[in-house]
Amino acid sequence: MLATYDGISIRHGLIERLCEARRQSDALFSLVRADYLYERPIPERHRIVFYVGHLEAFDWNLLHENIFGLKSFHPEFDRLFAFGIDPVGGGLPSDRPSDWPSLDQVHDYVTKVRAALDEKLAGEALRSQTPDGSSIETLLNVAVEHRLMHVETLAYMLHQLALDKKVRQRRPQNVDSGPVVHRMVEIPAGMATLGLRRGSEDFGWDNEYEAHTVDVPAFAIDQYKVTNRQYLAFMVAGGYEVRSFWSDDDWNWRTGCGITHPVFWKKAGDRWLYRTMFDEAPLPLDWPVYVSHAEASAYARWAGKSLPTEAEWHRAAYGVAGERERTYPWGSEPPNTALGNFDFHRGDPTRVNAFPAGRSAFGVHDVLGNGWEWTSTVLAPFSGFEPFPFYRGYSADFFDGKHFVMKGGSARTAACMLRPTFRNWFQAHYQYAYTGFRCVSH
Ligand code: AVJ
Ligand code: FE
Repeated sequence: MLATYDGISIRHGLIERLCEARRQSDALFSLVRADYLYERPIPERHRIVFYVGHLEAFDWNLLHENIFGLKSFHPEFDRLFAFGIDPVGGGLPSDRPSDWPSLDQVHDYVTKVRAALDEKLAGEALRSQTPDGSSIETLLNVAVEHRLMHVETLAYMLHQLALDKKVRQRRPQNVDSGPVVHRMVEIPAGMATLGLRRGSEDFGWDNEYEAHTVDVPAFAIDQYKVTNRQYLAFMVAGGYEVRSFWSDDDWNWRTGCGITHPVFWKKAGDRWLYRTMFDEAPLPLDWPVYVSHAEASAYARWAGKSLPTEAEWHRAAYGVAGERERTYPWGSEPPNTALGNFDFHRGDPTRVNAFPAGRSAFGVHDVLGNGWEWTSTVLAPFSGFEPFPFYRGYSADFFDGKHFVMKGGSARTAACMLRPTFRNWFQAHYQYAYTGFRCVSH
């Protein structure tokens, strides 16, 4: 009896989270003025309208047959909106707006998918397992987190949309904090426990398994994320022109694409402006800098340091001298808005010292939130990796040596993805993510 009741209440919790995630994605699309939904703010990505269809097609493709035994009512859209794009070295997409269905057609599809799924989800007779043995709870978690990840990656995209094409959404004011004094924190040698134990009750994506420990020699790490002020010093020192700070690949990208500053910065006469979601403001010097992995690596080389490995980052974030690792950098309390800049509370970054209450046992600040952090670790499977049978390519398509692990989270990362085992990734030359870095030395 009890088990059944628990099963039902867990499922209801997930359905409620799916509704909440839909509210988040609807709110995000509502910041685009309707005339501009066919724009492509990032040249490497699909037009915005694709994502309106994608979020629903993804849920539909995941659930309709596997869980509900439903037949498709629009197979053409199910396919059209099934997958996004992540071109590595290939050409840019060249489709035109008229190649896409009308907004009415897309909205009609969205409404019908939601109605059909919701009717089934509200019913009693759900299969508790798919034919491949995956549980409905796993599939619902996948639907919720997939949507929430897109709410963040869509924010990167809409960030690049011209200001007059957006409707301003108000957010809390920035946080006051004292002067930022940079220093490095010594992390003693010890273990880092990476990955999620198979059989754990917690949800994780395929790339989070299996749990394992890594021996991490002593190192020192920046207490704060690298700021715009520090990055400006690198630029003034000619960082973008000194060949030796860049790998061959990164240099070819830098020169080939004419990259001379972070994509979030804009030159106005002899001053730098910072492009937030809805404004252009004088460069906030104590905010974290957001750059590509290539630019972060060049800065680190200039500073005589390097980017942390995934295991080093993990140890600095969760390790405690002589004790068991923590669940969150600050302890075991679930994330709240006093502990960091995350979970959609704010849209833009804060100063890097704004959340002392969220610092790790070793005293590292802003480990979670206020910007993802690049690591030097190439995205690869942990030993014991198994792709999800219902979504084999989620991670495996990116085990190509060209994607780097990012840890932490940004202002627009949902709380559920602040778990220690969550791994994010992008290509080395992707500049648009809310991703910065901190350096280590050995
Ligand atoms: C894990 C954020 C890199 O956006 O490319 C969304 C997540 N995968 N739909 C991405 C994802 C398929 C993925 N990241
Ligand atoms: Fe997707």
